[in-house]
Amino acid sequence: MADRLLDIANHLSQKKANDSVESFEAAKSPSVGMTNSSVIDGEIDPEKKPLRVSVIGGGNWGTTIAKVVSESALEYPTLFDINVRWWVHEEDIVYKGENHPAKISYILNNFHENVKYLPGVRLPDNLHATGNMFEAIEDCDILVFNVPHQFLGSIIDTHITPILKEKSQQLGRETTFRGDVVARHCIAISCLKGFHINLDDPKDLKIQLLSDFIDEKLNIPTGSLSGANLASEVAKENFSETTISFPPRYVTDKDHVSVKCNSIAHPHDPKILKTLFHRPYFHVRVIDDVAGVSVAGALKNIVALACGFVKGLGWGDNAAAAIQRIGLQEITKFGIKYFPASKMETYYVESAGVADLITTCNGGRNVKVGKRYAEMYLEGNREINIGDLEKEVLNGQSAQGIITAEEVNQWLEFKNETQDFPLFSCVYKCLFEKADLTEIPSMLDTE
Ligand SMILES: NC(=O)c1ccc[n+]([C@@H]2O[C@H](COP(=O)([O-])OP(=O)(O)OC[C@H]3O[C@@H](n4cnc5c(N)ncnc54)[C@H](O)[C@@H]3O)[C@@H](O)[C@H]2O)c1
Repeated sequence: MADRLLDIANHLSQKKANDSVESFEAAKSPSVGMTNSSVIDGEIDPEKKPLRVSVIGGGNWGTTIAKVVSESALEYPTLFDINVRWWVHEEDIVYKGENHPAKISYILNNFHENVKYLPGVRLPDNLHATGNMFEAIEDCDILVFNVPHQFLGSIIDTHITPILKEKSQQLGRETTFRGDVVARHCIAISCLKGFHINLDDPKDLKIQLLSDFIDEKLNIPTGSLSGANLASEVAKENFSETTISFPPRYVTDKDHVSVKCNSIAHPHDPKILKTLFHRPYFHVRVIDDVAGVSVAGALKNIVALACGFVKGLGWGDNAAAAIQRIGLQEITKFGIKYFPASKMETYYVESAGVADLITTCNGGRNVKVGKRYAEMYLEGNREINIGDLEKEVLNGQSAQGIITAEEVNQWLEFKNETQDFPLFSCVYKCLFEKADLTEIPSMLDTE
């Protein structure tokens, strides 16, 4: 009976959902009390389906966001397909008390807990993990990318490109990601932190937002999500805020909007995005500054490493505040200079800006690694390999500030502008050129 009522509610909502705002409100509030006779009116468009959501990435943040969207799918079954599909990088792990290792997707689907990357958190039953990319993303409407950014290119090349090739062979024509693999109107949201440095021509390096990289590789409109969000706290459902940005050109672009949408709503509608990610404990603001959100999210990880250094050196809160102030200054300068579309207010007003900087510099992995690095330095160890230390401290998770510091330095050297970003350069020199950590104040004394 309950299923039948849900079907009726689904049909009714789908029928109402032909035009954006009204349809959205209708779909959000299913009319579960309607009688059977209301549904037999012949006007239901059987082609219209709830939006199918897929998540790519099963690390600490990937798992947390998969939990968030699965909860929303359960809450709004008329708007979203309740089955949320989830691609995870397969590895063999041992579940507590078991004797033999099993694939992580098996453990996730059977025990509903990510014992390796998010232990102790029960995951919703409507979240379905798989190591098979096609199974995870076929025909989806909203694709959420959430992997450490160093794996993004290889995941696309190893798991998505072959799907396109196989489809081309099957169909005997050239295929496109949108339309042949995911829905034609599919959009993506990137939860990644970092940049893509295009090295194709060493004399003409290009720095790219990861959302633009995804868009360029797969030709899919891509927004970004970032905020003051330590995954473990969001997973425990402690209150936090986040910022989602989606490129306005797609919201207003008639061509994209007019792509035939066989779902009950357009996935790029900001209200849809808000409904999918917003939870009582996870508050979402949707804005249109993709560059600002992405730049702030990437660069704060470098600042957090420096905060870890001063904590490890035992220099106290004044030093940490100084690092954050200089860090904020360099983040905004970098954003405005190299991504002029970004807006100053995003850095100061949004969760993705200063709030994320504060939370990341107070705790989190980059601080942990930076702190341990400085402690070992004080113990006299001058040959610390940062990659090895990251593995030792984080057990397979990654501190994105390390690779971002390297990439940003590469970019600044190419632009011959390292001197304009003393904090970013200082972090790079400490980690990769064995600079003396006790010289941090003089490295920052550039005025
Ligand atoms: N953890 C947080 O608190 C947090 C919060 C906000 C944003 N982020 C960002 O989220 C993104 C994802 O990070 P995370 O915390 O989910 O990851 P993680 O560091 O916890 O886990 C690493 C992930 O990478 C996968 N992996 C390992 N080797 C791989 C390979 N060769 N190919 C593909 N995947 C491989 C692992 O299976 C695992 O899922 C990062 O950009 C991070 O900066 C993290």
